[in-house]
Amino acid sequence: MQLALNEDERAIQDMARQFAREQIAPFAAEWAAAGGFPRTLLTQMAESELLGVPFPEAFGGAGLSFLAYILVLEAISTGDAGVGVTLAVHSSAATYPIQRYGTDEQKQRYLTLLASGKGIGAFALTEPNSGSDAAALQLSAKRDGDVWVLNGTKQWITNGEFASLFIVFARTTQGSTGAKGVSCFLVERDTAGLSVMPGAKKMGLHSSCTNDIVFEHVRVPHANLLGTQDAGFPIAMDTLDGGRIGIAAQACGIAQAALDASVRYVKERSAFGKPISDFQAIQWKLADMATQLDAARLLTHKAAWLKDQGQPHTQAGAMAKLFASRVAREVTNEAVQIHGGYGYMSEFPVERYYRDAKVTEIYEGTSEIQRIVIARNLLQTP
Ligand code: CAA
Repeated sequence: MQLALNEDERAIQDMARQFAREQIAPFAAEWAAAGGFPRTLLTQMAESELLGVPFPEAFGGAGLSFLAYILVLEAISTGDAGVGVTLAVHSSAATYPIQRYGTDEQKQRYLTLLASGKGIGAFALTEPNSGSDAAALQLSAKRDGDVWVLNGTKQWITNGEFASLFIVFARTTQGSTGAKGVSCFLVERDTAGLSVMPGAKKMGLHSSCTNDIVFEHVRVPHANLLGTQDAGFPIAMDTLDGGRIGIAAQACGIAQAALDASVRYVKERSAFGKPISDFQAIQWKLADMATQLDAARLLTHKAAWLKDQGQPHTQAGAMAKLFASRVAREVTNEAVQIHGGYGYMSEFPVERYYRDAKVTEIYEGTSEIQRIVIARNLLQTP
């Protein structure tokens, strides 16, 4: 594995860090309080080519590596994890499957739309009765000539409010159960019968939008079937293999922000007549936080590197997400502890980081699901 970044990766990382420092971090508390960031931020990100980092230039992307995208995602998440998840779902969950499985026509129309950032994408897999057991999904798609008619509800869909295109998984073989009989569709937002419900109330990530999407007789052209009929579930799993590396990067970004805030605070805050940075109890915490974060980042970069090499990365991505999300929770917890009473108050950012970190252990597969994926891969190896 190559540890050094190439020139392009270094350049886009620097640019994303500067963007996060100047255009995101100063406003993150305000956006969280308001329950969202302005749509214009995504336009700015698109103009800086941050919304299509790993996708071909011919389709409006930046034409860089998946690792470059991971570097950008960590930098943006350091500024605000809500913007981070917006970018993560748009890129690795919504744009990637079109690049990987789309026909030429689908790529021309939809990959260009998303990779250029002119439109935002969302990934609609979860339903009220199917979360970890994704193959239990019930949203139905019935064929009527050249169209499919979709009925049902998708739950907690990140980017619901912003999305112009939804990647929707639906059951095309009625009466089937489990992974068989599921297909994937590209559904435009303004299709009649598709309703985006009001934003869900969450513990954290208040700046990102999360909506239920209701489908009532939504007619989708057969041309918008992604991949082949009844073979949609493996598309979801393959997409999540990369998506999980993205969430690991988001977790690293949150942990980095908490560590940076802690290092700043311990030099400013005095107790017992000296800066608290002089106390070994604080120094040990910082040392552990930094070491854990570095280990999480290395696992994340390794998984991204494997994906760039076209090598299997299911297990590496699950390991990166499992480890980095735990590190994000633990590092943000220590950051609150280091800040003492101030850490519990919203005038300091660490209580927000703590709340934002928790969901990285839940979405794109809980930590328990990551362990299942890792164990299955171990047991399958001859
Ligand atoms: N790549 C390609 N195909 C895969 C695959 C992979 N990594 N993993 C499994 N498959 C294929 C299998 O080969 C199998 O195909 P065949 O039937 O053709 O052989 C099919 O998929 C079914 O596989 P399994 O039998 O392993 O399926 P399962 O029902 O046991 O489920 C699971 C496996 C890992 C538990 C899966 O349900 C899962 O990942 N659950 C978690 C769901 C999840 O992560 N949801 C995230 C929602 S999106 C989100 O959170 C976005 C956000 O807002 C941030």
